[in-house]
Amino acid sequence: MPTARRTALVTGGAGGMGREICRTLAASAHDVAVADLDGDAALAVADEVGGLGVRLDVTDEDSVGEAVATVSGTCGPIGICVNAAGWDRFLPFLDTDSAFCERVLAVNLAGPMRVCRYVLPHMVDLRWGRIVNIASDAGRVGSSLEAVYSGAKGGLIAFTKTIAREFARHGVTANSVCPGVTDTPLLDAIKDENPAAARVLAAVERSTPLGRIGLPQDIAPAVDFLCSDAAGFVTGQTLSVSGGLTMA
Ligand SMILES: NC(=O)c1ccc[n+]([C@@H]2O[C@H](COP(=O)([O-])OP(=O)(O)OC[C@H]3O[C@@H](n4cnc5c(N)ncnc54)[C@H](O)[C@@H]3O)[C@@H](O)[C@H]2O)c1
Repeated sequence: MPTARRTALVTGGAGGMGREICRTLAASAHDVAVADLDGDAALAVADEVGGLGVRLDVTDEDSVGEAVATVSGTCGPIGICVNAAGWDRFLPFLDTDSAFCERVLAVNLAGPMRVCRYVLPHMVDLRWGRIVNIASDAGRVGSSLEAVYSGAKGGLIAFTKTIAREFARHGVTANSVCPGVTDTPLLDAIKDENPAAARVLAAVERSTPLGRIGLPQDIAPAVDFLCSDAAGFVTGQTLSVSGGLTMA
């Protein structure tokens, strides 16, 4: 079933996974808005995929409102929203402080909630919508050195299920995609800053049934499917794309 052309907003669209998601949605003939804290990088990805680049900080109300208005004013109402912006560092829980916790929760949990609050009215008007939130296997089964991030992503999964319930009658689906360890700039930064993280991540790779860490190219097709017309009867689901690391 071919999917109709939609306006697709991708937060974190200039990141490792976000960029690949933008490429894939553009290849599926959507009008892609690449939204990222790094505005120059967003413009570069937009240039590559023939989309619109906007600076957007998911932690800032005005920034989200302005970016959504710019995207809908230029490309039309937003039918697809992929929340891929995220941030973390590996730390033992007792080494975290309130500022760290607030940042992790602001970017990974409150951020997607804020973006959804701005895009869902478009989808209600369209009587069609797709929300895909990039959570994490950390939010399903926990992850050593990622207590706060696991809490944020677990909250994001629960939030997504509730949005799925509330907006089903409007033709809107909402699903979570949970990557396992995936080769992106975020992973590089985590490994560079903490040698203990590199050891934990190597152990995760060894226990992954498919025997390797993920690539952005593993994640994007799952997101693309959940954004399609063909996925219209799939909602409230949590899809791990992690080489079999988690199976329940
Ligand atoms: N890489 C992994 O192993 C892994 C595993 C599980 C889940 N994830 C999740 O996947 C998603 C994509 O991560 P990635 O690995 O591609 O990381 P990345 O660092 O390559 O990309 C994240 C992007 O988010 C942007 N961003 C950060 N804070 C932002 C903010 N406040 N507002 C808007 N944009 C912001 C960054 O500028 C960056 O471009 C994230 O939600 C992350 O938590 C990553």
